[in-house]
Amino acid sequence: MDKLVIERSRPLTGTLTVNGAKNSVLPIMAACLLTDEPSVIEHVPMVTDVMTMLDILRQLGVQVAYAGSELRIHPDGFRGYVAPYELVSRMRASICLLGPLLARQGRASVSLPGGCVIGPRPVDLHLKGLQALGASIEIEHGYIMAECGRLKGSRIHLGGDRGSSVLATGNVMMAAALADGVSMIEHAACEPEVVDLADFLVSMGARIEGQGGSTIRVEGVERLHGSSRYRIISDRIEAGTLAMAAAMTGGSVTLEGARSDHLEAVIEKLREAGVQITVEPGRLRVKAADHLRAVNVTSLPYPGFPTDLQAQIMALLCLADGVSVITEKIYPERFLHVPELNRMGAAITREGATAVVKGMGQLSGAQVVASDLRASAALVLAGLAASTQTEVRGLEHLDRGYQNIETQLRQLGAHLVRVPEEQTVAPQPQETVVAQANGVPAPGQRNRRAKRYTRAERKQ
Ligand code: EPZ
Repeated sequence: MDKLVIERSRPLTGTLTVNGAKNSVLPIMAACLLTDEPSVIEHVPMVTDVMTMLDILRQLGVQVAYAGSELRIHPDGFRGYVAPYELVSRMRASICLLGPLLARQGRASVSLPGGCVIGPRPVDLHLKGLQALGASIEIEHGYIMAECGRLKGSRIHLGGDRGSSVLATGNVMMAAALADGVSMIEHAACEPEVVDLADFLVSMGARIEGQGGSTIRVEGVERLHGSSRYRIISDRIEAGTLAMAAAMTGGSVTLEGARSDHLEAVIEKLREAGVQITVEPGRLRVKAADHLRAVNVTSLPYPGFPTDLQAQIMALLCLADGVSVITEKIYPERFLHVPELNRMGAAITREGATAVVKGMGQLSGAQVVASDLRASAALVLAGLAASTQTEVRGLEHLDRGYQNIETQLRQLGAHLVRVPEEQTVAPQPQETVVAQANGVPAPGQRNRRAKRYTRAERKQ
């Protein structure tokens, strides 16, 4: 196992191109099963979740070829219908194979994903949606066993207690694309990744309208063809993570390919915190704040602030002046990064689905362990801003969704290396960094603006 050793960073500067969206490409890879013709997908990120999905497709008998960022999927004559526990437990997104397998093979056996560190993640909406299309579904020995003749179009309400579901909307949309008749998906998820999947299905000949809104109309067709070339949207979560890295190091970074229309709630919150963001066609320019200000953030379904950036903005708000309140509405248990950030000198208290962050103006280096994908990104960001060396373990989480983030950060001037866990790395001599404009003290300097909290206050 490796760890990342991170030195306090100088202000990150430069230009990066944002990779393709992991959460778009996974269901789109599943959608390729809806035809027997080949599809070619471009701008595919090289992350381990994509590798896991490739393993599952190969097990199902699908031919796949992946080179550069281009993926060719040819499901000609595939017969498999089982997504086994060993692979599904590695990646919950495998649930999105259920709809395509049912629609193509008339049966599917997909392992229930099991526990998840970010809290309960039920699959009831997936099952309800597919049942409404005519599938009969049983849970046996930890597997979702589903069968159907030709699925029939229907009216499907996909709202749950926590709003809409991204992958359940995707599953139902994919199944409905080959169903007999018209389906109306109500309370559909509006995330850009749902729109990307719908657009991909349209490129295969599907008849879909309303994607991006809360009602999606799908008119089933007899057959779909391969998509000759489809480019995945840029990853809004990667873009948001890198924007926050720039903001936390006092830097100035241009993110080529970042979609401002997918990041409105994030841009708004960062601006409220004092970060300067300039929207230009095809790119975002991010310039750190003179002083980071505290802001309140609530994660919500799109177009609200994404849960997948909640941990990262929490790391950022540890450097702000004042108290921020962060409320998690999608996964109320998604706070495993809190104790790790506190080990780095943060003062965060949690009550249920809310975390109160007392901005300390600075963080200090520590050995920390990542518990999930976005928590790992938050710890890397915290490490860049911390006054001394940080070690982040649990990189298997980071690698699931970030393509070489340490290379990207190094290109912007960060000092971080991936080494075996047992190896130690001598702290780098810190460059003299002129007092940074965002209120983060330069190495060795005291941050006079930051309020000092007593130990008792920190524990509150
Ligand atoms: C997608 O997961 C993303 N994953 C997640 O990304 C993301 O956090 C999430 O959407 C929310 O934006 C992929 O796209 C591969 P949901 P998904 O169904 O679709 C509840 C990351 O870090 N719910 O939209 O599985 C659920 O518990 C990740 O990249 C039900 O109640 O999430 C949650 O509270 C992790 N019943 C809410 O809906 C269901 O049947 C939204 O979850 C399904 C979901």
